Amino acid sequence: MRILGIETSCDETGVAVFDDEKGLLSHELYSQVKLHADYGGVVPELASRDHVRKIVPLIKKALLDANTDHNTLDGIAFTQGPGLVGALLVGSSVARSLAYAWDKPAVGVHHMEGHLLAPMLETHAPAFPFVALLVSGGHSMLVDVKGIGEYEVLGESIDDAAGEAFDKTAKLLGLDYPGGPLLAKLAEQGEAGHYKFPRPMTDRPGLDFSFSGLKTFAANTIRDADDTAQTKANIAYAFQEAVVDTLIIKCRRALKQTGRKRLVIAGGVSANTYLRDAMKAMMAKMNGEVFYPSLGFCTDNGAMIAYAGMQRLKAAQYSPLSAAAKPRWPLDSLPAL
Ligand code: KG4
Ligand code: ZN
Repeated sequence: MRILGIETSCDETGVAVFDDEKGLLSHELYSQVKLHADYGGVVPELASRDHVRKIVPLIKKALLDANTDHNTLDGIAFTQGPGLVGALLVGSSVARSLAYAWDKPAVGVHHMEGHLLAPMLETHAPAFPFVALLVSGGHSMLVDVKGIGEYEVLGESIDDAAGEAFDKTAKLLGLDYPGGPLLAKLAEQGEAGHYKFPRPMTDRPGLDFSFSGLKTFAANTIRDADDTAQTKANIAYAFQEAVVDTLIIKCRRALKQTGRKRLVIAGGVSANTYLRDAMKAMMAKMNGEVFYPSLGFCTDNGAMIAYAGMQRLKAAQYSPLSAAAKPRWPLDSLPAL
């Protein structure tokens, strides 16, 4: 079976063709980063308009690169939510129009399920069950995953998401949007031991996160510090170390609580090398294994939506053509396969 996947939940237009026997046949990505950089964050109306401009050419290119056309498709998957409503509407309208015109089923995909299943695109994919740490710009959560659609949310952020904390702290350090990867790069020049950021909510039981205090701590630290490049790098290092340390403490707790031996880390922040290395070391100590998407599929992309859509398509879990975009959509409300 073959599916087209369309992602437009935020500031990336992603399109991919996935075949359940041959794997990923093509994937296209257009990032709107430059468009939003001047504003220091995503401007929803500009995002929607740019998706409108890019989506059809990207779909044409994805089909061409996959050496195929719509006749070979068995369905069209699209991100139905959560995300920016205007951006979601573009992908869902185009996907459902194509489904109608080509007489194929449309499959609405949950964006975070897409992230969660992205490591399944790798050759060494995780087996169920596992604990998943989802860390993106909009969400941070720990999920016990028994199978596709069998999700128990163990904890989530009560304020800023991990990626959001990276972006806001990066902004305070004078870095461009989105600052997460730029802060990580700056931290590479930083030295350990100069600053000590708190590890929020680790001194009490539970698996929820809170990252907004780190941003405030960063603001105060930057205000009291000198303005040299080395100091900035040291602050970036200490911030990143605190976020990663906090995530490690919570993952370890979630693994102990559930008895799982496998950990999946996905979402934009899972592209962070410091995090990937630290989690690998932690899992080696626990005699477990950690799984990541490849770097290109950590942040938003069409491939993860095509993959998740394929699983739902095979289970005949289609969406009616009237399916509305869902800017808010709890992950644990999804049906099991
Ligand atoms: O999953 P994603 O592409 O979009 C959402 O669904 O939100 O995640 C984007 C987030 C941004 O906050 C970005 O700064 C962060 O992921 N990010 C990183 C890195 N690469 C992307 N944060 C830290 N280190 C990175 N290398
Ligand atoms: Zn995402």
